[in-house]
Amino acid sequence: MDEERDDVGARAAIGGRRSVRRFLDLPVADDTLRRILELSARAASGGNLQPWQVHVVRGAALKRMSEAVLAVHETGAECPDYRYYPEVWREPYLSRRRKVGFDLYARLGITREDKAGRAEQFRQNFRFFGAPVGIFVVIERDFVPAGFLDSGLFLGNLAIAARSFGLETCLQAAWVYYGAVVRRELGLGDDHLVVAAAALGHADPTAPENEAFTERAPIDEFTVFHES
Ligand SMILES: Cc1cc2nc3c(=O)[nH]c(=O)nc-3n(C[C@H](O)[C@H](O)[C@H](O)COP(=O)(O)O)c2cc1C
Repeated sequence: MDEERDDVGARAAIGGRRSVRRFLDLPVADDTLRRILELSARAASGGNLQPWQVHVVRGAALKRMSEAVLAVHETGAECPDYRYYPEVWREPYLSRRRKVGFDLYARLGITREDKAGRAEQFRQNFRFFGAPVGIFVVIERDFVPAGFLDSGLFLGNLAIAARSFGLETCLQAAWVYYGAVVRRELGLGDDHLVVAAAALGHADPTAPENEAFTERAPIDEFTVFHES
């Protein structure tokens, strides 16, 4: 892995990362995908347990997964493996979440009243936003909660490693709300839990939704320095 030790591009890879929500219809080379997964698995995990299990869907398998989840989504039913968001919203989280939503829809010219437009944009989640590769990270259920932490580190690496190959991602919790369907399609039982998914591919450079560069709270808002 000398190639990585010599790479000084980490700051640019991390600093320039953003969620991409429209991908080009271009494949990701097999060996590139394998290198990205190999780099992602360099993530630390408690006791080096490496609890993440990765399921890649492409081609017909991706289409099947999309159709299966969209069919349930259309009914209004959910079968979550867990709920990513809090049941009761409070500040500052509510405003932050609203802002990314409003900004996205504004870029796409979808108005507040255009419920159908919003719903269609949300459905893009279940097509991996047109990406050729969909990645599910799954853990054995008794690894909750620590397995979430380790899987998060894996997914963080994935997003950055992808950029080092000129690829982009969108990490996705939307699929988790259809965990039972996802597991069924992947051939997994109740003893597994879907942590999150990621769309991976080449960003569409002409897509307005890919231009968003979201804000972050300044360091002093989320950090306390204890010194005396
Ligand atoms: C665990 C996780 C789950 C997410 N789930 C979704 C999702 O289901 N759909 C989506 O469009 N974006 C999803 N996102 C992307 C966030 O909305 C995005 O990271 C956030 O708004 C910050 O924007 P940025 O990634 O462009 O910096 C998710 C991100 C993370 C880390």
